[in-house]
Amino acid sequence: MCGIVGYIGNQKASPILINGLIRLEYRGYDSAGISTVEKDSLSVMKDKGRVKNLYQLKGINDLEGTIGIAHTRWATHGKPSKENAHPHLDNSKTFSVVHNGIIENYNELKKFLTDHGYTFYSQTDTEIIPNLIHYYYKNESGDLRFLQAVKNACSDLKGSFAIEVICKDYPDNMIVVRKDSPLVIGKGETENYISSDIPAILSFTRNFYLLNDLEFAVLTRDNVSFYDKDLNIIKKNTQTIEWNASSAEKDGYEDFMLKEIYEQPTAIRETIGSKLNEFSKCEFEELKFTKEYLATINKIYIVACGTAMHAGLVGKNAIEKLCQIPTEVDIASEFRYRHPLVDDKTLCIFISQSGETADTIAALKLSKENGAKTIAISNVIGSSITREADYSIYTHAGPEIAVASTKAYTSQVMLITLLAIYFADILDRNTTTVNQLKTDIMNLPKKIDETLKLSEVVKDFSKKVYQEKDIFFLGRGIDEAVAREGSLKLKEISYIHSESYPAGELKHGPIALIENGITVVGIMTDKNLVEKTISNIQEVITRGAKTLVITNQNVDKNMFNMTIKIPEVNPFISPILSVIPLQLFSYYISKEKGLDVDKPRNLAKSVTVE
Ligand code: G6P
Repeated sequence: MCGIVGYIGNQKASPILINGLIRLEYRGYDSAGISTVEKDSLSVMKDKGRVKNLYQLKGINDLEGTIGIAHTRWATHGKPSKENAHPHLDNSKTFSVVHNGIIENYNELKKFLTDHGYTFYSQTDTEIIPNLIHYYYKNESGDLRFLQAVKNACSDLKGSFAIEVICKDYPDNMIVVRKDSPLVIGKGETENYISSDIPAILSFTRNFYLLNDLEFAVLTRDNVSFYDKDLNIIKKNTQTIEWNASSAEKDGYEDFMLKEIYEQPTAIRETIGSKLNEFSKCEFEELKFTKEYLATINKIYIVACGTAMHAGLVGKNAIEKLCQIPTEVDIASEFRYRHPLVDDKTLCIFISQSGETADTIAALKLSKENGAKTIAISNVIGSSITREADYSIYTHAGPEIAVASTKAYTSQVMLITLLAIYFADILDRNTTTVNQLKTDIMNLPKKIDETLKLSEVVKDFSKKVYQEKDIFFLGRGIDEAVAREGSLKLKEISYIHSESYPAGELKHGPIALIENGITVVGIMTDKNLVEKTISNIQEVITRGAKTLVITNQNVDKNMFNMTIKIPEVNPFISPILSVIPLQLFSYYISKEKGLDVDKPRNLAKSVTVE
């Protein structure tokens, strides 16, 4: 979703801003723009479409300003167009603003400003912000005039926002503020940076400041000052990020998605880290849970969106089987509005790669209000969700740039399985099973390497079915959770209609859709259920379906059009292997169709509005 970049320093701002926007492209957007402070005025250049349209605009190379803001917009209020693209100016052209989020009371504020003589040129909620700042600015004076006006305007805003403001009268200042929307500040020597996320400015700095809700930062070239919501000065220290800049580059791969699929052995190794030693208890230093506390828990909720929710389904299986604690998995946008039964005997786990998904954050806040203990699982240190939760644990997948999640999913599955082991160790439950699982996890990365070697076989089958209109995914038990993820991946990047079903449900409706030539993908890794699933696949073969089977069991290959044999592994972690052919399947279909794998239409990497 919308991306924000800012620069203040001694170099020309526009190339740095455009470079940052390119690195934020993966978040999803439909228009882009930049604004700089020029000699006595603010420049604004923007256009509909890709960032490359922006840097081809006439005059953009003539911008001399060394302070500027930039934005990629993902339309919410008003269609994608040049007029609606950010930055937006106030009527007097004193302030230029970019905004990520949604101003919920914008109609009310627009009427207020219209009544006070302001005119609006776009359909966006954002355009009220520079005008509101101007409205307050007129009545302010003194050193803090600019900051006070921004603060007053923000006090009127309801909703979520990450805002960058520059002012013609303050050519050496940039002000930023956030509420429920991501924004980080990168610290350089004689220059400072703003971004919606860390990878976009990782090549400039590894030192970041994180803002909490309704904190303001005033950036100059060599300093950043922080203020709370009442403009009291506050002190902040930088955090150093371990990721290196090359982790946000393609490194010779055609697409980020392919690179990220191949990074899974490392991501899993890093996520296991030092938490596991097959001869001792699983350790999570961040969590200090006791047997007494866990014994009081009568229900666990795992709440997330999209792929992260699918990782939660795998986690449920591990927690229920290893710890015997009833566990429910819910979609955050549903959970937050359905009055879930949550109290102090509930433990709520929230999974979010970005840590910025609006619905997941709202669900977490609700659980806390109802007295539950909360754990955040995220890939981004210091992200919003980790700052809200009682406890935070991290996947160490490195930056994930492709919109379709791959290494983040498998790392989430790994981490939540480790969490289940940690709980089981504390509760002294299922010791033999847990010890075996620990050993099998230690051997997992090399099995991922082996699975990745199946890529060519998957590619061949993808070439045969890439023109299909519908593809079905079937599985039972843990394989059903993987079927859901396989189906989602395919939809996201190939635009092929796809559905996943528990194989046993097939006869209750979906089989009516099976006809000659339809493709059905079956996932079978559970030896207790494999025969049952084969019977279901047999039913679709009888009706003319083409079949791809992903299995670690010895099945009769002659039955299916293609069988992909993955390494056998402990069932608790089989999704980490069985999902890989499915990731490659959607990747190669998307490539075969000539689509933009990393930036699929209409989708955003980080969904920061509800
Ligand atoms: C978007 C992304 C998905 C992701 C989901 C949840 O839909 O396109 O890849 O799974 O958001 O994101 P999160 O950052 O909370 O894991």
